[in-house]
Amino acid sequence: MFTMQPIGHVRSPYKDAREVPKGLGAKHEAEGVLEILPEFEIGLTDIEGFSHLYVIWVFHRSQGLELLSMPPSDDRPHGVFATRSPRRPNSIGLSVVELSRREGRELHVRGLDMLDGTPILDIKPYLSSIPPESLRRGWLAEAEARKVQ
Ligand SMILES: C[S@@+](CC[C@H](N)C(=O)[O-])C[C@H]1O[C@@H](n2cnc3c(N)ncnc32)[C@H](O)[C@@H]1O
Repeated sequence: MFTMQPIGHVRSPYKDAREVPKGLGAKHEAEGVLEILPEFEIGLTDIEGFSHLYVIWVFHRSQGLELLSMPPSDDRPHGVFATRSPRRPNSIGLSVVELSRREGRELHVRGLDMLDGTPILDIKPYLSSIPPESLRRGWLAEAEARKVQ
């Protein structure tokens, strides 16, 4: 077992899960703030130079577990580890956000899909060395192709 403590919280325009855009083609452009606790502020040193960040967080308002479920982007069931479903064995969320600016212990970001008050476990610079042409998008690509037909 592991014990973790939040390093901060998300200030998001989304107060309810139904407000977050979902399904194929959904765009996440919401702006908000990652508010880091004072005791961790020194850990933000030099973060300003990065355009995008990974945010690791807790689905603190998610209930239950579904190993197989129908995501909003498809009409076929998929395994939880092949989706980004909130109903997972460990309620951990991962989002990539764009860093607009830092004001002290506030990171102003764009691209949120978390609810207001979401606890943040960690932040890391987003660095991807995988060329887009090497990525396979699995069932999502198939669902997109079916939608176009
Ligand atoms: C499909 S999940 C993807 C989240 C993240 N990008 C990931 O891949 O782990 C996004 C959905 O989680 C839900 N959500 C966001 N914040 C939440 C929270 N703190 N607790 C429970 N559900 C949340 C919202 O309904 C949102 O549409």
